Amino acid sequence: MATIRLGDEAPNFTAQTSEGEIDFHHWLGDSWGVLFSHPADYTPVCTTELGMASKYKQKFDQRNVKMIALSVDGVESHKGWIKDINETQHTTVNLPIIADEDKKVALLYDMIHPNADDKLTVRSVFVIGPDKKVKLIIVYPASTGRNFDELLRVIDSLQLTAYHKVATPANWQNGDDCVIVPSVPDEKIAELFPKGHTKIKPYLRITPQPNL
Ligand code: BEZ
Repeated sequence: MATIRLGDEAPNFTAQTSEGEIDFHHWLGDSWGVLFSHPADYTPVCTTELGMASKYKQKFDQRNVKMIALSVDGVESHKGWIKDINETQHTTVNLPIIADEDKKVALLYDMIHPNADDKLTVRSVFVIGPDKKVKLIIVYPASTGRNFDELLRVIDSLQLTAYHKVATPANWQNGDDCVIVPSVPDEKIAELFPKGHTKIKPYLRITPQPNL
C-alpha cells in the first residue's frame, strides 16, 4: 500500500478500461488529470456521479483536464453499468472507467481504507498536474457523492496559483479577488500586480484575479 502525498509523482500503471487498455501517464499526456474511485459498479451514488461527470466533461475539457474513473469490477460489468447510467441519468458516459478487478490501482493509490470498508474503495479524488505531480487529494466516504462544481473550483484555483504568485481565499470562486502570497515583498507588488492591491494587514494583501 502506497501513501501518496501532495507533490508526489502520481504512480503510473497500465489498466484495462471501458475504452481499452491505457498506460496512465501516456493517457494523461500534457493534460491535467482527475482520477476518481467508485466503491463498486451498479451502486446508486456512483451511478449519479458518473452521470454528472459525463455532463460536466466539457467544463473539464475547457480547462485541459482529462477525467478517468475507477471501480473494482471488470470491463464487461462496466459496459453493462454504463448502459444503466446512460438510461437513468439521461446522458452518455464519455470518460473511461478503469476495470480494477485485482485492486492493483486501488492499492497503489491507497483507495481502500479497511476501517471504512475492507473490500470497496472510498471515493478518492486525485488532481494531477501536467508535470504528473499530485496537486489535490480529497477523500469522501461511500455514502457521500462528490460535488463536481467544487472540483472545478479547486482546479481553477490550482491552475491560477500555478502561474501567478497568488493564493485563493475561503470560498473563492473564479473571478473573485485573490491574496498575494507571503513570499512576495511589498516592493515587488506594483510590478507583479499592475491591477493594484489593497494592504489590509502586512500579511494580508488583496489583488484582483491576475489572469482575467
Ligand atoms: C453508492 O455508490 O451508492 C454506494 C456504494 C457503497 C456504499 C454506499 C453507497
